[in-house]
Amino acid sequence: MAKERIESLPKHIGIIMDGNGRWAKKRGLPRKFGHRQGAKAFRKVVRYCKEKGIRCCTFYAFSTENWSRPKEEVDAIMSLMKEYLDEVRKYIDEDVRVIFIGDRTKLDHDIQQKMNALEEDSKDFTSMTLGIAVNYGGRAEITNAAKSIAQEVASGDLDLSMVDEHTFSQHLYTSQMPDVDLIIRPSGEYRISNFLLWQSAYAEFIFMKNILWPDFSEKDMDKALDEFARRNRRFGGV
Ligand code: FPP
Repeated sequence: MAKERIESLPKHIGIIMDGNGRWAKKRGLPRKFGHRQGAKAFRKVVRYCKEKGIRCCTFYAFSTENWSRPKEEVDAIMSLMKEYLDEVRKYIDEDVRVIFIGDRTKLDHDIQQKMNALEEDSKDFTSMTLGIAVNYGGRAEITNAAKSIAQEVASGDLDLSMVDEHTFSQHLYTSQMPDVDLIIRPSGEYRISNFLLWQSAYAEFIFMKNILWPDFSEKDMDKALDEFARRNRRFGGV
């Protein structure tokens, strides 16, 4: 890969896997079939990102707001999650570090155990970091960070004058990851939906309107990477 190409690759891609329900509806199938197909797209895209040399990729799998969906749909997503956590174990044999972001205490005990074990067993791997957001909400993450900083200040473990943006970042679920610099959302919705709010301060956004997540392919990722490489990132400068 040419040097300039590597430099123009995003360091951290966030992906909002949207459109599973519509994909199923278009085919007259229950929504859970869309999620099953979406999980297959997740598998394909993780491998492709690794192949392309992307160092960090975070997928939005379940938000703090998704609990309001019908129980049958929530159960279907959780059961897919369980199945795929076993599959994710295969990636870690390929030197991929896995980090789960979100409040896992609300999840089934066996899912929590699988998550903890995956994180522990992959913590020294360095080829790529795979983030999976489960019961994740950006506002809840920021609130929790503020609370834990306040606690450390109150207990005397942290000096208030030392609290800066870096300290704050270190109290987020993503403390081990660089800020996200590209967010991709297929399915024609143009919003962030409480995903990586702090971390996306300078991210480029690519919204793809003609594709639903279950159909997202390597070709779509190439398109997004080409578009990212063409953008002129100024970080508030000129
Ligand atoms: C958004 O589409 C998708 C979700 C809320 C669930 C995503 C979950 C998976 C892909 C499966 C499990 C995850 C992993 C990591 C294996 P939507 O249901 O809002 O679609 P719609 O907007 O068309 O209704």
